[in-house]
Amino acid sequence: MQVDRPKWLTSSAATMLLLLASVSAVPAKAGAPAPSAAAGAAQASQGADPWWKHALVYEIYPRSFQDSNGDGIGDLNGITQRLPYIKALGIDAVWLSPMFPSPQVDFGYDISDYEAVDPKYGTMADFDRMLAEAKKQNVRILLDFVVNHTSDKHKWFIESASSRNNPKRNWYIWRDPKGYTADGKPIPPNNWLSAFGHSAWQWDPKTKQFYYHRFYIQQPDLNWRNPAVEKAMFDVVRFWLDKGVAGFRLDAVPTLFENPNLPDAKEEPGTNAYGDRNQSEAEYDDLPEVHDTMRRLRAVVNKYPGDRVLIGETYLENPADLNRWYGGAKHDELQLPMDMQVGFQKKLDASGLRKHITEAETQIDGNQPLFVFDNHDNKRSWDRYGDGVHDAQIARVIATVLLTSRATALMYYGEELGMVTSTPQRIEDVQDPIGRTGWPREKGRDGERTPMQWTPGPQAGFSTDPHTWLPVASDYKTVNVQTESGERASLLNWHKQLIGMRRNDPALHSGSMTMLDTSNPSVLSYVRKGPSGHSIMVAVNCTATPQNVSLTSAWGTHVKTLLTDAPALGGQTKLDGIALPPYASWVASVE
Ligand code: GLC
Ligand code: CA
Repeated sequence: MQVDRPKWLTSSAATMLLLLASVSAVPAKAGAPAPSAAAGAAQASQGADPWWKHALVYEIYPRSFQDSNGDGIGDLNGITQRLPYIKALGIDAVWLSPMFPSPQVDFGYDISDYEAVDPKYGTMADFDRMLAEAKKQNVRILLDFVVNHTSDKHKWFIESASSRNNPKRNWYIWRDPKGYTADGKPIPPNNWLSAFGHSAWQWDPKTKQFYYHRFYIQQPDLNWRNPAVEKAMFDVVRFWLDKGVAGFRLDAVPTLFENPNLPDAKEEPGTNAYGDRNQSEAEYDDLPEVHDTMRRLRAVVNKYPGDRVLIGETYLENPADLNRWYGGAKHDELQLPMDMQVGFQKKLDASGLRKHITEAETQIDGNQPLFVFDNHDNKRSWDRYGDGVHDAQIARVIATVLLTSRATALMYYGEELGMVTSTPQRIEDVQDPIGRTGWPREKGRDGERTPMQWTPGPQAGFSTDPHTWLPVASDYKTVNVQTESGERASLLNWHKQLIGMRRNDPALHSGSMTMLDTSNPSVLSYVRKGPSGHSIMVAVNCTATPQNVSLTSAWGTHVKTLLTDAPALGGQTKLDGIALPPYASWVASVE
């Protein structure tokens, strides 16, 4: 699919920026000025497409990004302080993980007030200042909208739990016990499990009913079949949109509805990390009712100017399921439900990447794909895809695929540095409760949430407090923004160069996508053809052995390397005999 050339990009500016990109591909000495992805770039929002179509979104976990007041916990003023970095990296929008008041059982995903800021992270005035500063830099702010559940300390739940006939009783999912055991213990209504282990039903001795929680006990599910709940939650959306946020990432949104008849889930072989019998989630995940709600939510968002956007946390197994979240050909639900197929494969695999990228290009009714490799719930891609030998090259392969594909891209703080997963070694160090329930099979998500690494100094420049809420990863002396900024060949500068090219090169910005050499099991390659005919070719070796590829020439007769981590490919001019060392990445312009 071809998209109109953005009006702001003149061909002479494009050529100049291409030259810059090729110059910066040449390794230089430490201390050389870092390339800036944002420098000289016009703003994508001026083009015909909505801004999010070409955007790079950056997830910030507020606890871990920058502490400004020395309590060892990141905060909003810290983020404001780091906006120049975010801008220079070339980020279009920040998705802030929850910063609302919360007992912090699930570190903010248990919200006790949707229309305020947790004092640990700052004040509403700090939020407003952050938003205003971000706006000046043309960085949009997206909030996390935790739709499925509130905290058990939210006033709605406190009221709901207070008595069976409280007006808010039906705001949550309360059910009678199935019966009582011989010794008088209440039996849950059915066998459904919490995603975080054990029964999804919690007994309330006071009102003698169970309530349903898909996640922690302290995260009771809202009853979205009750119109009053929808109204209250849509009011929350309006509250923040009125303030000027650019949209939301919808948390765990496929879990919004459950089968009201509460049939037992089908048991499956084996047990999960918490020792529960595995079971099918078909009765409580991704029920069709959710799409009517999504359409109504989209209508609320559409009333606002400026292309506000809805992103979805949608772990789905195939493109047909994902397409429903866009509203299919009607395009009337989420603009960007996350594609979790491309970025969360079992291993780095050219055929798998090709298959999933092709599906995203062809099976979602022309909707815009959103690719992601990293977030606060999964081991970092460095560790998931690394082989222990070529980790740095593999990280470049991932960045290259993410940033040269046609999809909207989502990155997680520190991904640009090659931050690693630092899993706790002892159960007593675990912060994330699932790491305690599931130990040692599930050690929790602390490992991917460690403080951002800014400098080689104390606490990596994250905080002045030596007791940071999670320990700083041990590699911070070499893996940090300051050090990597001064190293031309660093992973940080690799990202900056790709981001700059993606933003400024018409083929990468808005060109079509065609897979090449489609039966090659080892090398993924494709061409992005720009609106004016100029094309970019990309090839990545997804194996630990050297690969030689010859690519077709329908787009030109020779190539000029723009970016590669294989020095021998720097002078490549021919389309055949492209020799890719293990896990090498290569980006070239076709002439
Ligand atoms: C989502 C969040 C995760 C959280 C869960 C419950 O999966 O990303 O961090 O624990 O929802 O809110
Ligand atoms: Ca702080």
